[in-house]
Amino acid sequence: MRIAILKERAEGETRVAATPETAKKFIALGAEVAVEEGAGADASISDDAFREAGAEVATGPKAVEGADIVLGVQAPDVLALAGAKPGAWVAALFDPFGNRERVEAYAKGGFEALSMEFMPRITRAQSMDVLSSQSNLSGYKAVIAAADEYGRAFPMMMTAAGTVQAAKCFVMGVGVAGLQAIATARRLGAQVSATDVRSATKEQIRSLGAKPIFVESVEGIEGEGSGGYATEMSEEYQKAQAELVSGHIAKQDIVITTALIPGRAAPRLISDAQIATMKPGSVIFDLAVAQGGNVEGSEPDRVVEKHGVKIMGYANTPAHLAADASALFARNHYNFLSAFWDEEQGRPVLDEEIGDAVRLTRGGEVVSERLAE
Ligand code: NAI
Repeated sequence: MRIAILKERAEGETRVAATPETAKKFIALGAEVAVEEGAGADASISDDAFREAGAEVATGPKAVEGADIVLGVQAPDVLALAGAKPGAWVAALFDPFGNRERVEAYAKGGFEALSMEFMPRITRAQSMDVLSSQSNLSGYKAVIAAADEYGRAFPMMMTAAGTVQAAKCFVMGVGVAGLQAIATARRLGAQVSATDVRSATKEQIRSLGAKPIFVESVEGIEGEGSGGYATEMSEEYQKAQAELVSGHIAKQDIVITTALIPGRAAPRLISDAQIATMKPGSVIFDLAVAQGGNVEGSEPDRVVEKHGVKIMGYANTPAHLAADASALFARNHYNFLSAFWDEEQGRPVLDEEIGDAVRLTRGGEVVSERLAE
């Protein structure tokens, strides 16, 4: 049973899919672990650290040679899998809705693509969920990056030269990233408010010491929503939300947007006209910028200035926290495969609930029900 970890090839990707800690744990299960040279370099993990953990460090083609499982952050190009066992599993982010060609290429190559973003949102899969682990760090980083761009301080400070006012921070979309953004902004001393379409988040916002700002005239999504996911809202809701946001946003210094809808472009939450009502020097961090953006005019990896307001967002936010993001991603992989480890066969055997959810391709075919929809 050979597990291979390749160096990530995607532009701007600094993470790595295994750490010495998880390599050691896989070896303890009886697996052989091979890591491509330099795979951990951008995440501050040396080849020697992998060697000390018992892994083999080799060139990419050698590491993949004879692999039963390949672990990635972002799925590698199928060409990089030459030499892996027929039917080898590849567990990684596949962006299945956005990159259909890659899924087809995996099917054609006879590989079993396991999409980590399709991990079901059930209690027992929480520790395997990369969307949660990475969003959590993203929510933190968004606030830190916005604070850095902001020409003022976050906490209220009473000094001999006068008082510095606390920043007002508004978080739009209170999922995993939004909750961490609220907590981080609070820790920095900002006055925080937040909104979502799912009513269950109201109590979560309050419990973090922030103020919920909700559309009351039109009903949103009752409770958590299906699997915790939002759907596209009615026109009537969108109109009511725009009015509510317009009134609130003009008074904010920092806005963090995190709203996503699986399989669709991110919902537009802030228009250029609304940005024009904000104070000069305010900062908007658009965490959804790579999925089309919540904010009109936001561009990945750029700080765009409009009406004196700075609009920013990263194409790959967790990549800005490479070491922690890799450590959590690697543990998600380990928690996933080890939960299904079959001692007799010396390899993981997935059950239906999780296996069918994450599996995109098998036996030359695209088999994912969610993709078929
Ligand atoms: P997400 O990344 O899909 O979306 C972020 C947030 O944006 C969500 O809260 C969503 O409701 C909100 N949103 C969407 N459209 C919006 C709009 N038009 N206006 C305002 N907000 C909008 O969601 P995420 O962070 O992945 O998780 C959402 C929930 O799912 C969490 O509260 C969590 O409890 C649950 N969850 C459960 C897991 C498990 O049990 N294994 C794992 C991950 C999440």
